[in-house]
Amino acid sequence: MNNPSLRETARSMVAPGKGILAMDESTPTCGKRLEAVGVENTEENRIAYRSLLLGTPGLGDYISGAILYDETLRQQSTEGASFPDLMKQQGIMPGIKVDTGAKELALHAGEKVTEGLDGLRERLQEYKTFGARFCKWRAVITIGEFKPSIACLQANAHALARYAALCQEAGLVPIVEPEVLINGAHTIETCFDVTVETQRRVFDQLYRQDVDFAGMVLKPSMVISGTDCPQRANVDEVAAQTLRCLEQTVPAAVPGIAFLSGGQGDEEATRHLNAMNLMARERSLPWRLTFSYARALQNPALKLWKGEPANVDKARQALLARARLNALASSGEYNEELEQQVAA
Ligand code: 13P
Repeated sequence: MNNPSLRETARSMVAPGKGILAMDESTPTCGKRLEAVGVENTEENRIAYRSLLLGTPGLGDYISGAILYDETLRQQSTEGASFPDLMKQQGIMPGIKVDTGAKELALHAGEKVTEGLDGLRERLQEYKTFGARFCKWRAVITIGEFKPSIACLQANAHALARYAALCQEAGLVPIVEPEVLINGAHTIETCFDVTVETQRRVFDQLYRQDVDFAGMVLKPSMVISGTDCPQRANVDEVAAQTLRCLEQTVPAAVPGIAFLSGGQGDEEATRHLNAMNLMARERSLPWRLTFSYARALQNPALKLWKGEPANVDKARQALLARARLNALASSGEYNEELEQQVAA
């Protein structure tokens, strides 16, 4: 499979100085985010919130594409246009989450396998009619006692590859997202070992399904200490271990790596990305390193908004500020002074 327009889309998703906005929360997950700021999880409120995000003037300067959830692709925004049209006005490519969620893996308590392959070929055709250019599928890998199991790693890698092949067949760029969860008391070394093993299996399966590495984007988690680990690795260690892991697992043909934030703090996620891009300057790495954050981009805006129309402008400023700082970090041009200016 070698489709020049697919490769061009993949390259533009990770264009210099740009990243991807993940806003593909399923209805229950979106509900959790809204309820945390006292907003009821109604369709009207989800539209209002997502219109706030995508109607932010200037967002397209830092964001190449945004990943939507199924309902958003079909809805009218409060700005008057459909969401895909609103995105087009901003120069932001529409993407769509196509998995149907991570479900319990049979015979493996506490582990999950992502579902959604049945009927996917037909769903992709429909998403194309709404203007989708790329897709996303997230697999979750849990670290714990006897976890991850080989069964979990293999089932998820296989599903990711089957999904990616279907996307490329339909002319859509797959974002391949194997997330090693940050939850747990594990050290950064354990996270490194598990992430290497996960990504090796993912690329092996992608290769076996004939997926074109140049027409995809990898969305991994960073190599980081578990949330309950007593010795937390610092910013430079996270950057160094993450790069070491990528160098050992990701083929050079992949145009870019767009990290998820995975529960890191907003500023922490920006610092890690910046540190990696600073280190990358000293090596000749083949891929662009950028962001595809959900929480680490949206959090400040969501907290300021609180469902009040009067707060929309300041919430948009907060989103734009985070998008800009992460775009700078994707070139190693972020610093603490810029962060302080935003805070002021
Ligand atoms: P976070 O950046 O909040 O981890 O979300 C990224 C994402 O797309 C999860 O699938």
